[in-house]
Amino acid sequence: MSAPTLYISRLLPDPVMTAARRQFQLINDPRDASPSWDAVRTGIREADAAICTLTDRVDASMLAEATRLKILANYAVGYNNIDLAAAKARGIVVTNTPDVLTDATADLTWALLLALARRVAEGDAYVRSGDWSGWAPTQMLGTDVAGKTLGIVGMGRIGQAVAQRATGFNMRIRYTSRTGTALDQLPSQWESRTLPDLLKEADFVSLHVPLNSATHHLIGARQFALMKPTAFLINTARGPVIDEAALVDALLQRRLAGAGLDVFEQEPAFHPSLRELRQVVLLPHLGSATLATRVRMGMICLENIAAVMAGKPAPNQVQLA
Ligand code: DGY
Repeated sequence: MSAPTLYISRLLPDPVMTAARRQFQLINDPRDASPSWDAVRTGIREADAAICTLTDRVDASMLAEATRLKILANYAVGYNNIDLAAAKARGIVVTNTPDVLTDATADLTWALLLALARRVAEGDAYVRSGDWSGWAPTQMLGTDVAGKTLGIVGMGRIGQAVAQRATGFNMRIRYTSRTGTALDQLPSQWESRTLPDLLKEADFVSLHVPLNSATHHLIGARQFALMKPTAFLINTARGPVIDEAALVDALLQRRLAGAGLDVFEQEPAFHPSLRELRQVVLLPHLGSATLATRVRMGMICLENIAAVMAGKPAPNQVQLA
């Protein structure tokens, strides 16, 4: 019996590609570049299984043509790029890659938090510029992290991992959470808040919610008005959770001290004013970008595909909310 056919929309790090080629018949030669919508459409139409990434928009019209497709393994924990209802209606299993990227994403959140508080990116640019003339008592003064309040919006796996890292900094944790998260498992000193109360109280606000209709522009002008002018906002979740134009306004008017952004509303584009603002740190969506994590994500995709092809349940099937 011949191996099932597989479409992979982007080149994945080895050993994932080697394992994929060993287990399945690849119908394409994945490249290290974003495929066109049409290329993804053709790929998922012609394969039994597909691995897509968060930059591939898989919509209902595409899925309607994918009559032989059994499983769409999304190479990400977020799956807002896929029309889940359309996939469900056609009996196509959709899977994601939870757990394996929790630590990498939490670490990057902390990289942004510390970079903002201690002006790391700005300092690096200053030294490189050749303008630095030596140590000075008033030079590039930042903000303390230890003892401050960290507000976590979305207390799922990544939110909790970010909070755990804060204990070493002796921070107070305040969080918002969807009903359903097992709140009784969390340390009692981590306190739940409504979003407005969290925004009023926190010195650092970090976003960890999935993108859906309820979280689109969750943080906009009204929310910035509640935050302390000394507070910093960090987003390693999805860009559209923040109203980017309102963020720029808040930063320009000094209603917010700074922002660390790994994700943007219209990636790879971003609001042009962000480039000019010294109090922002901008990263190219690096949340899960460690070699070991990206390999584990790929292996999880392959495991889910193998399960479905063997007629078994996919370990990481995502469900419609
Ligand atoms: C995810 O998995 O959703 C991340 O954004 C990938 O880096």
